[in-house]
Order: sequence, then structure tokens, then C-alpha cells
Amino acid sequence: MEADKDIQNTPTGFYCKLCDVQIPNKPSLEDHMKGKKHQHLCRLRAKRKSQEENSVYVSGFKPATSVTELTEYFQQYGPVAEVIMDKDRGLYAIVEFSEPASTDVALAQLQHRLDGLKLRIKPRERKGFKLASKAKHDPNKPQVNLEKLNHELCQTASVNEQMQKVVENFQLGENESKARELLVQLLQEVLTEFLPDCQILPFGSSVNTFGVHSCDLDLDLDLQSTQTFQNRTKRSEQTGENKSEDGQSEDSILSDIDLATASPAELLELVAAILRKCVPGVHKVQPVSTARLPVVKFSHRQLDLHGDITINNRLAVRNTRFLQLCSGLDSRVRPLVYTFRFWAKQKHIAGNPSGGGPLLNNYALTLLVFFYLQNINPPVLPTVEQLKNMACEEEECVINGWDCTFPSQPIRVPPSKNTDDLCTLLFGFFTFYHKFDFPESVLCLRSGRALPITDYEEMHNAAEGSDTKQTPSSGPKLGPVNILDPFELHHNVAGNLTERTLKNLRRELCEAEKYCRSLQYQRKSAKGKSWGLVRLFAPHEGTSRPQDGVEKVPEISVPFRAAVLRGSFRTELAAAGDASRVMWFKKVCSVVEVVFNDILKCAPTTQVELEPSSTPTDHDQEQTKLEEVNNNQKTVVDASGNRASAHPGVKRSLSEEPSSSCSPQGKRPRLDSSSAFPEAVQWTWIQRHQVWAGRRKIRRFLVKSSDEASKPEGGCRSIESRVTRYIVEKDPDPRDLLEFGVDAALVGSGELTRALLKIKPTSDPAGHFQDFFHFLDSFLLRMVETLLAKSE
Ligand code: UTP
Repeated sequence: MEADKDIQNTPTGFYCKLCDVQIPNKPSLEDHMKGKKHQHLCRLRAKRKSQEENSVYVSGFKPATSVTELTEYFQQYGPVAEVIMDKDRGLYAIVEFSEPASTDVALAQLQHRLDGLKLRIKPRERKGFKLASKAKHDPNKPQVNLEKLNHELCQTASVNEQMQKVVENFQLGENESKARELLVQLLQEVLTEFLPDCQILPFGSSVNTFGVHSCDLDLDLDLQSTQTFQNRTKRSEQTGENKSEDGQSEDSILSDIDLATASPAELLELVAAILRKCVPGVHKVQPVSTARLPVVKFSHRQLDLHGDITINNRLAVRNTRFLQLCSGLDSRVRPLVYTFRFWAKQKHIAGNPSGGGPLLNNYALTLLVFFYLQNINPPVLPTVEQLKNMACEEEECVINGWDCTFPSQPIRVPPSKNTDDLCTLLFGFFTFYHKFDFPESVLCLRSGRALPITDYEEMHNAAEGSDTKQTPSSGPKLGPVNILDPFELHHNVAGNLTERTLKNLRRELCEAEKYCRSLQYQRKSAKGKSWGLVRLFAPHEGTSRPQDGVEKVPEISVPFRAAVLRGSFRTELAAAGDASRVMWFKKVCSVVEVVFNDILKCAPTTQVELEPSSTPTDHDQEQTKLEEVNNNQKTVVDASGNRASAHPGVKRSLSEEPSSSCSPQGKRPRLDSSSAFPEAVQWTWIQRHQVWAGRRKIRRFLVKSSDEASKPEGGCRSIESRVTRYIVEKDPDPRDLLEFGVDAALVGSGELTRALLKIKPTSDPAGHFQDFFHFLDSFLLRMVETLLAKSE
């Protein structure tokens, strides 16, 4: 398989040649291979391969020969998909046929003549697919050597000093900043030639005081004055003057494009053309009009810099000023931001490879730090609303209708009364966020408060008018983490984040919080061992994370918790003595079935009807009710490990013994014996709908105006069933998305008794399992406990 050829084993895991990335272990490798980037490159490679196979290389035609002439000539061998000509020199062309057979026919023809000249044709060169390689390391460019950094950090006397060292190591040097300034000047000069009065303004990490070596150069091309200039020129043309006041004639680039009506794609193409042709050193110019903000990407060869130009992105320039201001308000802000950013990158929570992606971006990380600093007591940073009130009249600023007013200089803002040192603040940061209910809150830096998500949606809907109440898909992109931009209040700067990233974020925050409580964090090791930030940044040791080469089946654990059970069932359990453990497990299995069958509408691969109980007790009646669902193909394993599969059409109840140990009378055994019920159960289900996608939003939409709104996810059976129904009804294309098996086993004893549910895909052609499992990971336990409490 071609995909296998892409992967190389390395001493530290795997290397994907196609994507040029290192992968630490097998589970990550599987994720990677199912991931968007890898899949995209595989498709692209297949496309290139078929293009190469379908194409011939043609030369020998006259320089004036057109694409149409070549197309018409080659059409005699089969339909032509595309002709690409070496336009500048008119020396050769690539003719791509729609079908590979046409290539063979054209190549088999002994002679080709066009316009009196003999054409030379040959198979197109097979180049092999290569991802543009990363920029080579420039020894003159400052890079952070991790080993050296760790060594330096271990030598310092305190965490405070370590955090300062992190800043020193990562921050942009004077020369780097100077180089960026020079490139901005050069771009300004060239672009002004074509777009009079335009302004090229840096924003983001190059200028916000949080930049690191090799960070991107983000630029805003402001064309508002150019547009005014164009309007003026048009008016003077209409009044008979051909030349504008500064000599721009009608054949200037502006005569080809109307800035007022041009689409973003047209503007990007224009900027890209200027960059390609007129800016020395600039290469790899690529307009991307599909991004949230359309952008022209480029690189600069000599400066080894990557840049992004967006157009009329004044909000970004302004929020960069805000970041600069906050950084200048207190000297502890920068060390905290640099430390948190580096920590997040080390833990794979941040660092999307090229802008978009499922992780947090640097802007969002910075805002998380600011929000925390607004919320500690006493605060280190004021809220955006407070800053607005400190600004004077000249500092008032509204962009695209958003109030972006704040003082231009830190001097106008009273200093913080908070005296905590950096070590304490960092610990406080992890304590603040490790239990933070991200999915149910909206972080609002304007007010410095975390708004309950329902309040925010109401506020937003009220502001937007009645339309938005009709469908849950409108409005800002709320997701697992919601951080409002300080100014553009309809923008969630973490809107790209996936459930999975949130799960990782939570896990890492908990680990970090736990570590910060230890002496290893706070005190330098007398024995020269790693301490402080070094261990905080390090990969985990001895945790339950998947290790190289070890396959780990995803599992969810349902702990025995008497407190969540219904009173009458608790009494039954108490009376059951030794059998209580198994009785509890049986109940858990029943509700697990209800969750998958009824609430999440999973279909059984084979339907097996349940047998009614012969002499039901109260508990059994209730149990039977729970079990009156279409059951799945199910295998039961008894305590001694014997397995028996339930066959299609065979009637079996969850409480029935496996066939190997079936009572001779065929009667249902009583539950008051610990051997009467198997200690393991297996099911297989098929999911035909993406019941996890957009679920929270739909739930909020459905319960908005009811008393149920306060119920957390998984806290109410009827709501969750309605949400699934809504998703199912809106799904135009139900198909077998995913088949998965669940193995339930009763493990542990006493207080540690738990039902362990191992969940694994048995057929997952489209790679949905990861998302489904991450949803189940938080949903299933809550739902099971809700059902256990209600015994519905
Ligand atoms: P980044 O997240 O790229 O931050 O946003 P950065 O510090 O510049 O990091 P690198 O080095 O490019 O990765 C860059 C700027 O884009 C604007 C902000 O001005 C931010 O400083 N931005 C980003 C937004 O306005 N909104 C967003 O959601 C993201």
C-alpha cells in the first residue's frame, strides 16, 4: 500500500514522509493517517499521479501557437482536460487528456505536425510527489535549543527566574525585528507604486511583544485611502481630466479593478501578482481566499520569513495594539504569556501547522492569560470595559461597528495592587483553569467575566433580531471552548477547537495543577535534577497515556457510586449481600443499552428480542422495562471466562445465564447469587447519524425557553433523546457511518467496583470513531448516572 510506504519507523516513533512530520506512537499514527492533512495530501498525490499519467509533453510548435490550437489538435486522440503552456517562452506545453488511454494513442502516433512544424511529444516526466520541504535551518538565525534551555533553566535559582529566561530565549532579537521592519518598508514602497495611499501595517506576534524567533510576519494591507483615491480619480475623469493630481494615468493598475466592488479573491490575486513580479526576494506567493480572513501567503528568501497579508483587517491591527498595551501594563504579563504559550505547544494544545486547525492559536492563548489576570484577586489587568473608561476622547475608536477604545499609553492606567510573584501566578493560572467549565461558559474579556453560555446566546439573539431564534446553526461559532474577541464580540477566537483538543487541554491543565502543588515545581533540586518549568514542560512519565507501539482500546469507566442510585435500588443492593456487586453491574449494562439504543439511536447489528422475566421482583419489572428495547447481538461471558454468543432470533435477557451454564430447567436464575449473572457483556452497534456533531448547540437551542435549560449535558434523558431525534430528522443522508463494539466488564471490588466499557470500532471507513468516542467519553458516564438515579 502506498500509505504504508509513507511511514518510516524511527527511534522515537514514526516519521510520515508524505507530511514531513514526526509521530510519537501508534495511536497518534493512526490518528495522523486518518487526519485531514494526510488524507488531503494522499488525494492530491493521487490526483497528480493521474494527471501525470494522462499528460504528454509537447514541444516544437511556433511561439505564437495558442492553447486553443493545441487543444484542437490533440482532441483527435481523446478529450483534452487542460493545456498548460510555458507562456513566457512558448517552448513547450503539457497536454492533459481526460483519459489515460488517449495518452497512449497520442504517443503511439509516429508523427505530429501543427502549422507546418513537426511536433515532438513524449511522456510527461514523473516527478514523484513531494511536499514543499520546510525551510532549512539557517545557522545564523537564532533557534531555541531545548536541551540548552533545560540546562539553563535548571541552573536558575527560582521559577520566577526561569520564566524570565523563557522570555529571553524565545523573544525576537533586535536584528530580527529590524529585518521585519525593512521588509515592511520595502512592501510599502512597492505596493504604493500600484495602490496609491495604501498602508501596510504589521500586526500579530512580530509587533505585539509576544513574538518568538521565526514567527510569521502578519500584515494588513489597508486600502481604504486607495479607494478614496480611486473614487477621486474617477470623478476627475468624468469631469474631463484624464490625469489624477499625482499623475496616475488611466492605464494604472487601478483602472483594471474597482476597489469598491472587487471580490476578496480579486483583490488577493492583484496583491499576489504585485508580490510575485515586483518585490525582490519574495517567493511562494499563494492567495488563500477560503480562510476566515482571505490572505496572501508569501515567503522571503533571504530573510527566511513567512508572511501573511490580509486586506482591510483593521480590527487585527487594533487588537494588536491592545495586546501591546496589556503587555506594557505589568511586567509579569510577558513571562506568563511566553511560558503558557510554550507549555501549550509542548503539550500539543497549540501550534496549528498553518493557521487553521483544531488547536488553540497564539492569540487565544494570550487572551486566556489576560482573562485569568483580570480575574485574580486583586486583578493584575483591568477589564476591557474599564480600559475604555480610562481613555480620553482622542483615543475613541470604532471599527466595523465594534468599540475598540482604550488608552494608547500604559501610563494612563493605574498600576495593579497585586503583588504575587510569577511562580504563584503560574500556579494560580493552572488552578483557575483546571476545573473551568469551558463548554458551558463564554469568556468575555470586555466584562472580565465568564458568562453562562445560555445567557450569551440570549444576548446575541436579542441583538440579532428574531431570525436567529429559528435555527441553532446561526450565530457565532460556539464550541467546546468559547473565548470572545475583546472587540469583535461575535467572534469566538477558539471557534476552531475540537472536543478532543478540549479533552487534552483539561487533562494537561489537571496534570500541571497537580505538579505545581509539588515541591519539585517550587524548589530547585539540590541534586541537580530537573525542577520547576523543566518538568512542567516535559512529556509525561508513568501516566496512562498511550506508549509507543502499545495499542490501547478506548475505555470508559463507570464507578460504583451508591450516592447516585435510587433509594429503593440501594435498599435492594444492601439486602443482596455478596450478590450486590453483580446486581449493580447488571443494572449498569441495562442503562448502557438504553443510552445506545434509545437515546443515541444506534442500531443493533443483529436484533435479539428479550425474554420477559418469569417471576419478576419490583426491581426486575423495572429492569424489564429498561430492557424492552431492541437489543443487539450480544455475547455474555461468565465469571470463569466462558463465552456464548447470542444468535439472531434467539431470545435472551441480560440477566439470563450464558448457554454454557444454563440451568437445566431453563428457568431464569435469581439474582441473589453472584454466579447468576455474567461479569462481562459484549454488544455491537451501528451508528447511522453523526449524533455527536453540534449536539451541545442543538440541545441549547431546543431547551432554550424551558426549565430544562439548567440541566447539564447527559443530565436528562428526554432532552438527550430529543436532541438525537432532531439530528436524525435533519440528516438527509443516513448511512452506516460506524460499527462499534462495546465490551463491558465488572472489575474491582468494594469501593473500587466499576464497570469498564471498552469501546472499539469494528468498521469505520470514514474515520468517525475518534469523534464519536470523544463525545461518549464525557456523555456516557453522565447519562448512565442520570438513568441510574432515575431508574427510568
Ligand atoms: P496568531 O494567533 O497567529 O498569533 O494571531 P501570533 O502571536 O501572531 O502568532 P504567530 O506567530 O502568527 O503564530 C495573529 C494576530 O491575528 C489576529 C490578532 O491580531 C493576532 O495578534 N487574530 C488572530 C485575530 O484578530 N483574531 C483571531 O481569531 C486570531
